[in-house]
Amino acid sequence: MNPQRPSRTAEGAAALRVWHTLIDDPPHVFDDRAVRPLLSGPTRLMLRNPPGLMRSAIRARERVQPELAALRGQVVLRSRFTEEALEAALAAGCDQVVILAAGLDTTALRRPELAQAGALFEVDHPATQAWKQQRLPADVAATVRFVAVDFEREALDEKLLAAGIRPEAPMFVNWLGCTYYLEPEAVTATLAALGRVAAPGSQIVLDHWLPDAELRWRPRLLLAGVRFAVALQQEPLRCLLGADELASRAAEGGWTVVEDLDAAQQRQRWLAGRTDTLALPDFARLARLVRI
Ligand SMILES: C[S@@+](CC[C@H](N)C(=O)[O-])C[C@H]1O[C@@H](n2cnc3c(N)ncnc32)[C@H](O)[C@@H]1O
Repeated sequence: MNPQRPSRTAEGAAALRVWHTLIDDPPHVFDDRAVRPLLSGPTRLMLRNPPGLMRSAIRARERVQPELAALRGQVVLRSRFTEEALEAALAAGCDQVVILAAGLDTTALRRPELAQAGALFEVDHPATQAWKQQRLPADVAATVRFVAVDFEREALDEKLLAAGIRPEAPMFVNWLGCTYYLEPEAVTATLAALGRVAAPGSQIVLDHWLPDAELRWRPRLLLAGVRFAVALQQEPLRCLLGADELASRAAEGGWTVVEDLDAAQQRQRWLAGRTDTLALPDFARLARLVRI
């Protein structure tokens, strides 16, 4: 990303989460209306409840051209997967939660008790983090432990230790919407840095996108469109990982992949029986890694 300015894709992902609650039918896969106040004025203006006729027109178009609905789906499904894993980790007693590449993640707003207990660490590129801090309500920002890190250049483990992470206790790490924007070496280095400070039982939940060679023509075409769009935002795609490659990079850092859901498995779990047009691209995968 351009180190001089906050991530634009962070606001784009947050906007898609809100759009899901406006355009898709309840029950919503992930309800992130809490993010609305953090969005910029122009984005908030675009995200108004569509009148009935417009909603029907959008849906009719998405039935023949499901690409936008698929991008919206991959954003909300990855958050749903993470919420389910976080819920289980907290129920099992985990008391350290690290949001990597947080962007406009709203865990601090939706689970204030975590932040108030000093258990919530938000890690992000310095430019994005400073921008988010200005947008969060001051009383919420005061409770989050912010850690500014550029994954391409800095040692994440040292920064987490300095921020108060306890390496003897398991942590839950949420790393969404980021692996594909980093150089492959930075993905491996970040996994290894986490491995150095993560007690056994720690988990990382992340999403990764498959390389062209593993895709048929239609998802490959969508990926080409995404590649073009994010390059325009100065956040080019750099690291597309197949399941085997993710597993070997994870193993180098001391992590075992215990789940790596392909698109069909995700559709089966969260989209089956829906009456709207929400979809998912074939390149989107969701993985859970455990420190043994
Ligand atoms: C698409 S946003 C995802 C935000 C959030 N996790 C979500 O799911 O909505 C990408 C995030 O990756 C972060 N990022 C990109 N490159 C980074 C780097 N080199 N170091 C740290 N963070 C980076 C951006 O600042 C941004 O917050």
